[in-house]
Amino acid sequence: MFTFQNYRESAELIRSRIGERKPRVLLILGSGLGFLGDEVENAVAVDYREIPHFRPSTAPDHKGRLVVGELSGVPVMVMQGRMHYYEGYSPEEIAYPVRVARLLGIERMIVTNAAGAINTGFSVGDLMLISDHIRIMGESPLRGENLPEFGPRFCDMTAVYDPALRRMALEQAQAMGLPVRQGVYFYFAGPQFETPAEIRMARTLGGDAAGMSTVYEATAANHCGIRTLGISLMTNMAAGVTEGRLSGEEVNAAAARAQKQFTALVLACLREMK
Ligand code: HPA
Repeated sequence: MFTFQNYRESAELIRSRIGERKPRVLLILGSGLGFLGDEVENAVAVDYREIPHFRPSTAPDHKGRLVVGELSGVPVMVMQGRMHYYEGYSPEEIAYPVRVARLLGIERMIVTNAAGAINTGFSVGDLMLISDHIRIMGESPLRGENLPEFGPRFCDMTAVYDPALRRMALEQAQAMGLPVRQGVYFYFAGPQFETPAEIRMARTLGGDAAGMSTVYEATAANHCGIRTLGISLMTNMAAGVTEGRLSGEEVNAAAARAQKQFTALVLACLREMK
């Protein structure tokens, strides 16, 4: 269990490193978008290993550092590299940086991820604004003693993904002529991809896309009053939706192909969050 003091110590170290910068939006970038951290202007990078109580990221293509500066003219804090449950981190550890961000004054977050399309009306390459999520695996990041400095014991989950931010993202996408979907992100713990039966279950329960991240960060953000915009990229049709096997390489290749459009949408949304 982390204490409120732990969060304060992490925030202090970051504050001591970023000078006058006052990040307003937290960006958590999934597969294929990590490079945006390199485009931050007037940037200071803080390695996770330098920050007390932070855990290093173990995913091979994730850098494991915070980049604070400006993107599209908006003061941001970018998490270049996030933690996943399948790497062995606890939900509380995965959500930790979000709460630290809150202590630094951040009130909005954009979180992106790669996902498998469960909805048969979706195609590979589609972007989906997350309207809600389902998590029946992995415990809540809020499990254990509640820290009332962040939020209430029993927190409302009616609008984890902020409707106004979603509307704004939809307008931005339409203005760019970019078709976007909206749907429910169904969390799987991974690291293995799902079985076709699991995907049929998820569809029956109301899932549109399957993924292995995001829900812990979004839950903690919701608890401490950070408004979240979530965007998923469909890198593949989920298991059993079409014939053929799934692979990490396929996911990465699809993420790379969609990078331009995905980036354009994230930057357009960011500009609106000034
Ligand atoms: N399932 C879970 N996570 C994913 C997938 C998938 O099919 N594709 C990309 N991330």
